[in-house]
Amino acid sequence: MKIVLVAGARPNFMKIAPLMGAIKKHPSMQPVLVHTGQHYDERMSGLFFHELGIPKPDVNLEVGSGSHAVQTAEIMTRFEPVLLEHKPDYVLVVGDVNSTIACGLVAVKLGVRLIHVEAGLRSFDRTMPEEINRILTDSISDILFCSEQSGVDNLLKEGVSNNKIHLVGNVMIDTLLHHREKAEKSRILDDLQLKKKEFTVTTLHRPANVDDQDILGRIISVLQIIGEDAPVVFPIHPRTRQRMASWDIKTDPEKIKFIDPLGYLDFLKLVSSACVVLTDSGGIQEETTILKVPCLTLRENTERPCTVELGSNQLVGTDPEKIMAAYQAAQNGKGKVGDIPPLWDGKAAERIAAILDC
Ligand code: UD1
Repeated sequence: MKIVLVAGARPNFMKIAPLMGAIKKHPSMQPVLVHTGQHYDERMSGLFFHELGIPKPDVNLEVGSGSHAVQTAEIMTRFEPVLLEHKPDYVLVVGDVNSTIACGLVAVKLGVRLIHVEAGLRSFDRTMPEEINRILTDSISDILFCSEQSGVDNLLKEGVSNNKIHLVGNVMIDTLLHHREKAEKSRILDDLQLKKKEFTVTTLHRPANVDDQDILGRIISVLQIIGEDAPVVFPIHPRTRQRMASWDIKTDPEKIKFIDPLGYLDFLKLVSSACVVLTDSGGIQEETTILKVPCLTLRENTERPCTVELGSNQLVGTDPEKIMAAYQAAQNGKGKVGDIPPLWDGKAAERIAAILDC
């Protein structure tokens, strides 16, 4: 069985790593790894392949950045000849980025069966590009692997047949549990002169938060206030860096420490040592739940409801008062800690490979 696995953007790499490992243990399956090149900087891509032990991609489409239409179309145009050459039995896509839908669409149009890992997640917010990617990818997939029960429920409500859906757990958590010990050895706290549990970590990159000058300015102002209490460490995404520069948003480096995007191990160490995390990322909501670090999500909704219902996540939106109240509660020991969702046990990729092999 030949299976083309697609990775394109940073959050894909931690999902692809355990899948490549698990599939390789099944001699009947022959993996072909395709990197679309949606993310291409060393710190957004190459570093993750190295740290997570992902093999060098068999093919790199090198699409780079562009508008949604340009990027999606370019991935499709460059992916089609790869499938025509390799003639796989399956294409496997993960997550919800533009590479996910672009490669999924090419696969089904060529009659190749499509597998979606992390299927069924819904924010019910169609202004998010990822929500469109999720709905479309799920609607054309033949096998859908879900990380949490809400994913199964959403797919059933949308009329997806039960026999296509498998609740297998979370491949991103496979990677976290596998690398946790190694991450403990990271020197990042010393490098940044930080003391355990005496700082906050922030990440921001959602267009809804960073492409609007007022909203970004408002969030940065709150971070400055939080930074008076304990330093805010902010590994900054290229999109956010560009916006901050173009609007000339100024900050006090004593309060907010902007640093380049970190590799996986340093970031894991940083988050696990933080007192609170403020983020608009999807994956970090899941990682903080496992690490039992209170997470304040700077969004009004989440496609990962089990992190709120069971885990350490709390939706606070972008209202400064709400953010400050939640931050102060967390600082006073009233932050959420929560429980680990079912099947987030480090074995999701093994379950997926076993299902595909039978
Ligand atoms: C993409 C995903 C988003 C995911 C995020 C993680 C889509 C629609 N969005 O958003 O779901 O959460 O990745 O990071 O697929 N850039 C660089 N170097 C890079 C990559 C990008 O400098 O290696 C810059 C470019 O100027 C680019 C901008 O960042 O225009 C945004 O990159 P893009 O891939 O379009 O979207 P992300 O915001 O990263």
